[in-house]
Amino acid sequence: MRIVAEFAGLTDEEKKALLGKTFGIDDANRMIENVVGIWPLPLGIATNFVVNGKDVLVPMAIEEPSVVAAASNAAKIARIKGGFTAEVSGSEMIGQVQLVDVPDPETAVEKIRGAEEELLSIANSRDPVLIKFGGGAKRIEARVVDTSGGKMVVVHLVVDVKDAMGANAVNTMAEAIAHHLEDLSGGRALLRIISNLAVYRVAKARAVFDREALGGEGVVDSIIKAFALADADPYRCATHNKGIMNGVSAVVRATGNDTRAVEAGAHAYASRDGRYRSLTRYYKNEDGDLVGEIEIPVAVGVVGGATRAHPVARACIKILGVKTASELGEILAAVGLAQNLAALRALVTEGIQRGHMRLHARNIAAQAGAVGDEIDVVARKMVERGEIREDVAREILDEIREKKGSSPH
Ligand code: MEV
Repeated sequence: MRIVAEFAGLTDEEKKALLGKTFGIDDANRMIENVVGIWPLPLGIATNFVVNGKDVLVPMAIEEPSVVAAASNAAKIARIKGGFTAEVSGSEMIGQVQLVDVPDPETAVEKIRGAEEELLSIANSRDPVLIKFGGGAKRIEARVVDTSGGKMVVVHLVVDVKDAMGANAVNTMAEAIAHHLEDLSGGRALLRIISNLAVYRVAKARAVFDREALGGEGVVDSIIKAFALADADPYRCATHNKGIMNGVSAVVRATGNDTRAVEAGAHAYASRDGRYRSLTRYYKNEDGDLVGEIEIPVAVGVVGGATRAHPVARACIKILGVKTASELGEILAAVGLAQNLAALRALVTEGIQRGHMRLHARNIAAQAGAVGDEIDVVARKMVERGEIREDVAREILDEIREKKGSSPH
């Protein structure tokens, strides 16, 4: 904590926030409805990340052991060849308006395209603050979609949301243009809502992973084979992409952003060519090192919503040192790639369970009833025995207590 606080220049208040001491029941009550309590999660810091030449400490909020350690390990390997390079394609989100009962859908599409200027000006009249920061509705896309409920016109309002996640701005604008779209099309506006398939906000990251640090040529080749399966088989790919989201969602959550929005966007993007595919890809370069790349939509913000309202989220954004949503998106992509590389490397070598269970051993010791110092002793002994299970933990615990001649209870 001291190192992180010094690195990020955290104030005493921010340090208290990280320790869970500032977010109270009143804050929770303001955020959602019917609040009965607060549900704390561990917040870890992934280390060794270099993104676009800059050292970053990455806060991750997650319940799963080994995710933070795995990301840090992969980032350490990437560091040898300079870390991650990353970029985000833009900050535009799509607001969709569904028009049903349109008498002549094709003509309506033409009319809507012809009315782009007036539609944009109606939308932009709703958010003067966004316009002031150079954002706002930028263009209109319209198409006919053939559905089980008949032909519909679907209009996309493309809005540059700058450093916000953008859902509020986009939804407000989509609702604002709906009446005019009804007039133009002769139909009825039904859904008016953001699309989480954020194709205009895609982060790309790339890293070269040193062959020797990975474990040699065999490991490089095996990781490429593991990737090939994910890219070909949806059963494997769901797990492969889930591993990517272990890292991405942990950072999204830590920064107070919407994990479901990013996850929905990622999985839909992974299916964009009609087949569910890997968000990452791997190949060997001329030196025999492993090159990893990721492409993932990143609908996240650093202003508005919980990113500002939640004290822990604010502190996490400060630790990351990001000033813009795009910078946050770059880090998310780097973390996703690191997480995936770490998982694949473990899977093609010793398997995932050994490291995972080693890190999970303390949880199991506690579940078996160990308290205080006993937790570490029981965990260590289970790891030494190579048997990390609750029954083994109980057995070891009994032995320790017998030796001590007492129980803590
Ligand atoms: C576990 O949370 C994630 C992994 O299953 C990912 C993968 O299989 O690639 C290890």
